[in-house]
Amino acid sequence: MWLIEKVKNNEFWPEVYTYPTTRAYEPLNNFSLKKVKFSQDINLYAHIPFCKQICAYCGYLKIIDNSPIMKETYVTCILKEIEMYKDIIKTKTIKTLHIWWGTPSLLSPEIIKKIITKVHTINPNLFKTALEISLEASPETVEYKRFLAYKKAGINRVSIGIQSLDDNEITLCGRKNTVQVSTKAIKTLQKIGFKNVVVDLMIGIQWQTVTSFTKSVQKLAKLQADTIELYALGMMPNTRIVYQKETLMNNKDVYACYDIGRKILLKAWYIQDCHNRYALPKTWWFLQEDYNFEDMSTIGFGAWSRTYGINMYYRNNYYNNVHYKAITEYIADIQANILPAKTGVIISKEEKMRQYAIYNIEHLDTTIFKKKFGSEFKKKFAKIYQELKKLNFITEEKNKITLNAQGLNYRDLIAKQFFSPKIMKWERAYRYSINIIIFGFSWSGKSVITNAVGKKYNLKIVHPSGVLRNLCENKPIDINKTEYNTGFWESKKWVKLFNKRLKDEEPLDIQATKIVINELHKGNVVVDSRDLPRLTNNGIKIYLKADMKVRAQRVAKRSNISYAQSMKILKMKYDKTRELFQKLYNIDITKNREVFDYILETDNLTEKEVSKKVCDFLEKTYPEFKN
Ligand SMILES: C[S@@+](CC[C@H](N)C(=O)[O-])C[C@H]1O[C@@H](n2cnc3c(N)ncnc32)[C@H](O)[C@@H]1O
Ligand code: SF4
Repeated sequence: MWLIEKVKNNEFWPEVYTYPTTRAYEPLNNFSLKKVKFSQDINLYAHIPFCKQICAYCGYLKIIDNSPIMKETYVTCILKEIEMYKDIIKTKTIKTLHIWWGTPSLLSPEIIKKIITKVHTINPNLFKTALEISLEASPETVEYKRFLAYKKAGINRVSIGIQSLDDNEITLCGRKNTVQVSTKAIKTLQKIGFKNVVVDLMIGIQWQTVTSFTKSVQKLAKLQADTIELYALGMMPNTRIVYQKETLMNNKDVYACYDIGRKILLKAWYIQDCHNRYALPKTWWFLQEDYNFEDMSTIGFGAWSRTYGINMYYRNNYYNNVHYKAITEYIADIQANILPAKTGVIISKEEKMRQYAIYNIEHLDTTIFKKKFGSEFKKKFAKIYQELKKLNFITEEKNKITLNAQGLNYRDLIAKQFFSPKIMKWERAYRYSINIIIFGFSWSGKSVITNAVGKKYNLKIVHPSGVLRNLCENKPIDINKTEYNTGFWESKKWVKLFNKRLKDEEPLDIQATKIVINELHKGNVVVDSRDLPRLTNNGIKIYLKADMKVRAQRVAKRSNISYAQSMKILKMKYDKTRELFQKLYNIDITKNREVFDYILETDNLTEKEVSKKVCDFLEKTYPEFKN
């Protein structure tokens, strides 16, 4: 569809702050830092994944873990990871240092100081060259003495997630603060005298209206925080908000909020820095992003961090949405002196050109474009350029193309037009895909139902037991044809193998799980699994509950053995499997049933009835399944 059509339909696209997007990152083979080119000036950041709450809209990697040991271990790993980049960091000029994502202000000033000091020890020019040393905070953590100590440790910018100045909206987000707490937090930060107090407000959260948003911005404008970010809600898969779409603002109103926000903030002496950021007049606002858009390299540390080199982007952590596991694996890697970079993308010349257009679309210099890429912007992206003209979204002066106020509202939708077909394919899979994970103990019928559901909704069917079997037998894996129920897992060979898996340092199960998680990441997969419901959020989780006696009768009938014998086999499998997953991932597959979206009692149902009930549930709960 053309941009003009999309704008007419009020289509929305979430903020594009990096390109190629992480969806396009693929597992890295033989990664070495030597393969990455870094610019002379660099940005640094550390990802801190601890939060007090899990907000309804938030798809970032984070966990609620209040144990000081976990936090300490994690930060020790960050320090070690910084050390791993020592040779690069010491020769570069550090322009910004951010400690963000999650809620870093849950870490004590002493711990934050340790991170800053680590960088400073490696590169003693840090405080001379880095104008921006920033900490992300949530309002309820703001307390005078604590934040004064952060400032003394070197923090000069604090970014705080306010999201709304309406108590009801804040509560619906699942956040623990109130308007009063938020207001006090902003005033406290101003009193301490941080150079830049940044406030995040969201557009489009549950039950928010244009009127309530207007009131929030009006209240906020009076507080005169240095920078205000207006983030339009982006739907991130597997966040609570995805299943509450009917409570969300429509796109037309979201765009109206951009206009209202601009009107109020410009009147309150703010300057519009970019499509979603306003700042009181000063010389610097969000340097890390500005520099990143200017092709300055950024090195990220921590479980979910990304590193943007000149020639490639890559990311720590293999597991998408497997929050706890991602963090423990990061820790394990670092403790074993392994650089935790797991997925990435080499940026081709074509993608670099698209990236340049995306990062600079608000103010694009066609002469620089020509110089960098040897082609005319207006010719290379003729269709988009013509559409922007027709929509009256740009002003042109000599070689400069600038988005005007209306154009800025649609900045992300415009940015998306520059995505290559390859990246778009990955994005579609991520944004519009649905995975189903079917759980049950042996002989609960999960594999048969997985096949039935997969066929009905045209999903890729993956049986992890088939993947594992091939790995165990050293056979190639064709993910499109994974076998199940071959009788292998009941054979004597299996018992021998199982005992080996229990003893192995790193059994092949982990490799098999990674392969399956990678498939889930691509989207539109149905999988029968015992560990995934507790390892990933990337899917709708269904539990087919069947009493052990019923399952034993099934085994006895199918294998022509006595009921007592089949009961013995099932009991042994139950105990051993439980033990294995406890050992592998520290999860108990017999507990925490709240991870499931649907639990179906199957004892008195035929296969056909189970399949029908599962499909009824899917279609009733997720309209996507109906067509
Ligand atoms: C990295 S988050 C961390 C903020 C901090 N932990 C807090 O919530 O107080 C930074 C900002 O991203 C924005 N954000 C989070 N999830 C979002 C989503 N799904 N769509 C749009 N913006 C989002 C929020 O405004 C949030 O304050
Ligand atoms: S928005 Fe902030 S506080 Fe809420 S879950 Fe995400 S990172 Fe944590």
